Amino acid sequence: MAARKATQNIKARATRGAGRLRGRGRVRATVHVALGERSYDVELGDDWLETIGRRAADKLGAERVAIVTVPSVARRYAPLLTKGLAARGAKVDRIVVPDGDATKNLKQLGLLYDRFLEHGMDRSSGVVTLGGGVAGDLGGFAAASFLRGIPFVQVPTTVLAMVDASIGGKTGVNLAQGKNLVGAFHQPKGVFLDMATLRSLPRRERAAGAAELIKHAAIWDASLFDWLEPRIEAFLDLDPKVVLPALERSCAIKGEVVERDEREGGLRKLLNFGHTLGHAIEKHARYRGILHGEAVAIGMVFAAQRSEELGFAPAGTRARLQAVLERAGLPTRVPNRPRSAYLSAIAVDKKKQGGKIHFVVLEGIGKSSTVALTPREILPAGWRA
Ligand code: GLY
Repeated sequence: MAARKATQNIKARATRGAGRLRGRGRVRATVHVALGERSYDVELGDDWLETIGRRAADKLGAERVAIVTVPSVARRYAPLLTKGLAARGAKVDRIVVPDGDATKNLKQLGLLYDRFLEHGMDRSSGVVTLGGGVAGDLGGFAAASFLRGIPFVQVPTTVLAMVDASIGGKTGVNLAQGKNLVGAFHQPKGVFLDMATLRSLPRRERAAGAAELIKHAAIWDASLFDWLEPRIEAFLDLDPKVVLPALERSCAIKGEVVERDEREGGLRKLLNFGHTLGHAIEKHARYRGILHGEAVAIGMVFAAQRSEELGFAPAGTRARLQAVLERAGLPTRVPNRPRSAYLSAIAVDKKKQGGKIHFVVLEGIGKSSTVALTPREILPAGWRA
């Protein structure tokens, strides 16, 4: 009960903090993702949703546009975005899908196609996704598959979606058998970040998104890690002097990895740092009560510990990573379950990866690689949560 009340208070504070947006700001930073004819920009700004609507319309060049979004975001942010799209003459249909990962399914996908057809959409139409990973993945996959593919742009409104899910073209839905088992690589025409939208995001979700940001620094960029370490609280407090450069650099890292390995042949697997055990933790929790970024935080500490034990990372690597995650208020202890339970959950990843698991290890802060290991090598005999 106390915990619920606390969450409500956080939500109330976050909502008050959101204030009234005007939406007419301008771009403050741009990250280019160079993928030949599929290249696009990630544009960052503050309080510029109406401008985003106009820019999205220009990118899509479409007469009919569907905004795919979730309820909380739709109420607050869709009107300004719609205003901008309409200012460029687009006929807009706003499609609100229920929030939560359970929505990312084939049934919802079918309902989206129905709405696209009712709205008279054809191959010259476009999609705008507005929200977190669910809106982006589901709406993106609808765009990837409707009439064999129509253009879309991403307007992520969570830290997690801003630095990770919206960049790189991964779209898809879950099946009953597992997450993201059906999908397509479909690069957006543009990604637009409005930092003002983060003000309505509960702090717990900001922290969960920050886990992926810390991940980018840990696997790729020691100087970003050094810079972020003393500033993580300021990031969570949404200090603009910290948020803009942190998001910009994190998006640049994601973009760089995607540029070098768009289809996850090798290098892009580094982004799965912390995800082997993280996925197993989420699965055992039945995806309830723990956010993805929280499970990844625990998985990263575990992977850093194994990196030291396997001789890849110098002593102290795990402690440094753990300290910054804990200062962000993220969990770092593996939930208490038998080793056998984790082994069987990890074995699913093994099937997906065709034999051994590409386990991501740190070679120190800012440097990573993958090693092919069996589940028993990842969780050696005697390992205890
Ligand atoms: N979220 C991991 C990737 O985009 O590859």
